Amino acid sequence: MAKINFLCVHKKLRSKGLAPVMIKELTRRVHLQNIWQAAYTSRHILSRPVTTCRHWVRMLNPKKLIDAGLTRLRDRMTLSRTVKLYKLPDAPITPGFREMERRDVPAVTELLRKYLCQFGVATDFDENYVKHWLLPRENIIYSYLVVSPETHDVTDFCSFYTVSITIPGNQKYTTVKGVYSYCNVATLTSFPQLMNDALIVAKQKGFDVFYASDVMQNESFLKELRFYPGCGQVHYYLYNYRLRNGLKPSELGIVL
Ligand SMILES: CC(C)(COP(=O)(O)OP(=O)(O)OC[C@H]1O[C@@H](n2cnc3c(N)ncnc32)[C@H](O)[C@@H]1OP(=O)(O)O)[C@@H](O)C(=O)NCCC(=O)NCCS
Repeated sequence: MAKINFLCVHKKLRSKGLAPVMIKELTRRVHLQNIWQAAYTSRHILSRPVTTCRHWVRMLNPKKLIDAGLTRLRDRMTLSRTVKLYKLPDAPITPGFREMERRDVPAVTELLRKYLCQFGVATDFDENYVKHWLLPRENIIYSYLVVSPETHDVTDFCSFYTVSITIPGNQKYTTVKGVYSYCNVATLTSFPQLMNDALIVAKQKGFDVFYASDVMQNESFLKELRFYPGCGQVHYYLYNYRLRNGLKPSELGIVL
């Protein structure tokens, strides 16, 4: 199955019917690879989606986000109280938490494959895919794992990719640096603790905001870690493949 991502038409060329032309050409090229199904997303309702996911937002640098106009102070909150509320420890808490390295590819692939088979629809990871999409690359993708101090096994994994947000017309900031939660697996560490460490390292790296959607088991940490629901929704679709029933976001094992 092909995964369609990053479909984008320049703002000046929108609403001229270019998207269907691009989709038709993509489909032709995928068919030439003898692939007849695809997973894709849209912010619009196109037909009955497999599921609809919501974006959640966790501020890492509330002052900048407020100054940039991306969010505002909640009722009865001062800036200093807000900053305190979202403050994070200086370093990750979980023993054995470290950045993923090339030598971890087999262990991470196995962990992801075991974890993802519980979902109705999920990415079928192999080692090449893990190398390409998950090996850390500065300002693109960050992946961390937990190695058990006793057994030296990789027990937990989290990852996030970068999203840069342009702020037109703001006096102080032109961009806000964000990251989006990608694949996370918690077996020995609790999900909230693992993702709290992900927030800590994202903050250390200078990111201002951490986004996540309610796919997989993400609901188990969103509220506890002070994520709030954003206004965006994304609908997931499968091309040329029909599921008997729709899925809940928590039954979806892909992030597009
Ligand atoms: C999504 C995007 C490419 C659509 O381009 P556009 O110029 O607004 O739309 P066009 O006039 O070219 O085409 C509209 C048609 O494409 C369809 N379409 C739009 N997005 C689609 C998607 N993600 N998948 C399939 N079809 C899509 C619409 O339903 C519409 O079909 P209709 O004419 O039968 O009603 C454009 O809005 C964009 O670049 N958005 C920002 C990036 C983004 O959100 N990408 C999508 C998710 S990765």
